[in-house]
Amino acid sequence: MGLHDKTVVITGAARGIGRACAVRAAEEGADVVLMDIAVDVPEIPYALGSADQLEQTAHLCRKNGAAVLVTTADVRSRSAVTSAVTAAVDRFGRIDALINNAGVGAPSGKAAHDVTEDEWQVMLDVNLSGPWHLITAVAPVMVAQRSGSIVNVASTAGLVGYRHFAGYVASKHGLVGLTKAAALDYAPLNIRVNALCPGPVRDDPAVDGQMTAVVADALGISYEEQEAVYLESVATSSLVDPADVAGAAMWLAGDDSLKVTGTVVPVDAGFSAR
Ligand SMILES: NC(=O)c1ccc[n+]([C@@H]2O[C@H](COP(=O)([O-])OP(=O)(O)OC[C@H]3O[C@@H](n4cnc5c(N)ncnc54)[C@H](O)[C@@H]3O)[C@@H](O)[C@H]2O)c1
Repeated sequence: MGLHDKTVVITGAARGIGRACAVRAAEEGADVVLMDIAVDVPEIPYALGSADQLEQTAHLCRKNGAAVLVTTADVRSRSAVTSAVTAAVDRFGRIDALINNAGVGAPSGKAAHDVTEDEWQVMLDVNLSGPWHLITAVAPVMVAQRSGSIVNVASTAGLVGYRHFAGYVASKHGLVGLTKAAALDYAPLNIRVNALCPGPVRDDPAVDGQMTAVVADALGISYEEQEAVYLESVATSSLVDPADVAGAAMWLAGDDSLKVTGTVVPVDAGFSAR
C-alpha cells in the first residue's frame, strides 16, 4: 500500500501502460484520476483508447478500492487539461503524483525528409507539448502543497534513434530534456520529476496493449516480425510487460524514491546496456 491516501493522475489511462499504471496505483491504495482522449482523431492512423476501455480501467481501479475520477481530455489542449486537473483538485483536494503517459507512436515509418508538416506537428503536440500542458496544470497544485512527483513516460526512443521514427524519437528526446529542466525548476519546492524509458514492450491483451502492432504497421511488417526484432534487441529472453513499467512508475511516484529527481530510468530488458 505504498500509495495509500495519495491521489495519482494518469494520462492515457484507457489501455496499455496507462491502464497498468492506474490499476497498480489503485492496488497500492491511491485514488486515481484517469485521463484519456477516448476518441479517435484523424491525424493518428490507428484507433486510440475508447470510452469503453477507459471505463474498463475505472472498473478495475474501483475493484481495488480506489476512488476514481474519469476525465476525457486531449493532452494537446492546455485548456482541456487545465479543466480536468481543476476537476481533480475539486474532487480530491490534492495531487500527489502525475504519470504523464499519453503518447502516440504513429504517424511514423518514413525517412525524416518525407515526414509532412502535419505528421511532425501532431507527434510533438501529443508526446511533448502534452506532458508540458499537464505540468503547467499540475505543478501549481504541487507547489502549493510543497510536495509531488511527476513521472514522464518517455521511451528508449528518448535515448537513442530508431530508423524511420524521426518525429517520435525527437519528441521523446524532448521529453527527457523537459524532465531534467523541470526537475531543476521544482527541486527546491520538494517536487520531483523523472522520466521512464520503456524499451520493447509486449502487447499485453490484459491491458489491451497494441503499440508494438502500431510500430509493425508503420514499418510494413507483421507483429511477429516486429517482436522478433525486439527480442533480438534485448538482453533478456523476454520483452518488457506493461506491468514492469507500472512497477517502476509507482516507485518513482511514491515515497520510496524521495531523493530521486531528474533521472532517466530505462525499463528496457537490457536494451540500452548494449
Ligand atoms: N508500448 C510500447 O512499446 C512503448 C515503448 C516505449 C514507450 N511507450 C510510451 O508509453 C506510453 C503509453 O504507450 P502504450 O503502449 O500504452 O500506448 P497505447 O496506444 O496503448 O495507449 C496510449 C493511450 O494514450 C491515449 N492518448 C493518445 N493520444 C492522446 C491525447 N492526445 N490526449 C489524451 N490521451 C491520448 C490513447 O487514447 C491511449 O489510451 C506512450 O507515451 C508511449 O510512447 C510505449
